[in-house]
Amino acid sequence: MKDVLVIGANRGLGLGFVEALLARGCRVVATVREPMHAGMLTKRAATEPLEILALDVGKAESRERFHRDMAPRTIDTVIHNAGIYGPRGLPVGDLPEDAWMEVLHIDTVAPLLTAQGLLPQMRASASAGKKTSFHFLTSLMGSVGDNGSGGSYLYRSAKAGLNAAVRSLSIDLASDNIAVQLLHPGWVRTGMGGENAPIDIPTSVAGMIERIEELSLAESGRFVDYTGKALPW
Ligand SMILES: NC(=O)c1ccc[n+]([C@@H]2O[C@H](COP(=O)([O-])OP(=O)(O)OC[C@H]3O[C@@H](n4cnc5c(N)ncnc54)[C@H](OP(=O)(O)O)[C@@H]3O)[C@@H](O)[C@H]2O)c1
Repeated sequence: MKDVLVIGANRGLGLGFVEALLARGCRVVATVREPMHAGMLTKRAATEPLEILALDVGKAESRERFHRDMAPRTIDTVIHNAGIYGPRGLPVGDLPEDAWMEVLHIDTVAPLLTAQGLLPQMRASASAGKKTSFHFLTSLMGSVGDNGSGGSYLYRSAKAGLNAAVRSLSIDLASDNIAVQLLHPGWVRTGMGGENAPIDIPTSVAGMIERIEELSLAESGRFVDYTGKALPW
């Protein structure tokens, strides 16, 4: 893992990935929706092997511009971290169509559309004999088998959809020697996880980087948490 792309990197786990990857000597391309408001990353980009590109994964024109920006660049590892939870605590009987479609759009559809535009660079990396891999941040909340508490319709269904799509991606990219996995970061103290979450960002990110480094083609398509525990689909 040398040339890493982190999608959704201005705060939370995405920012944690960038910091940990730079500390490990990786070259990093980090995407943010608003480069003007990514002060911390901009400061580091002045002195470290870090580039910042604009990307809103939910907007077709933004993805197209981003894919053009990426075309001349070399990458071997893609971490798709961007995601939203949507409105919380909605009971059945009061499920909103627009908000649900937005969560499905950002958490299920956009990651695959963003990833497919990166296939030329990823295939070039694999053809050059480099270990090449995609990693998608998902959630245990997307596990149908683990769902014993109900609720969270929007987020659960969107991450379950992501899991299904990424599993197909892993099968379809096997012949290109590109490995793919789904990573659950644990319940982490971020904007999304909230302050009561038991795990801090560095702990989760360090675990996920170990999972990224150890991933082999033989294990491609797996769904694991940051400690490496296999999760039920
Ligand atoms: N924290 C947890 O406990 C937990 C648990 C399970 C799974 N996860 C997953 O882990 C990932 C990161 O979560 P987090 O806790 O770090 O969340 P967070 O603090 O809410 O950060 C979410 C990140 O995604 C970006 N993002 C949202 N919509 C985007 C879009 N349309 N285009 C580009 N970027 C977008 C945000 O950018 P802006 O700043 O521009 O909004 C932000 O950088 C997510 O996929 C989440 O579902 C988190």
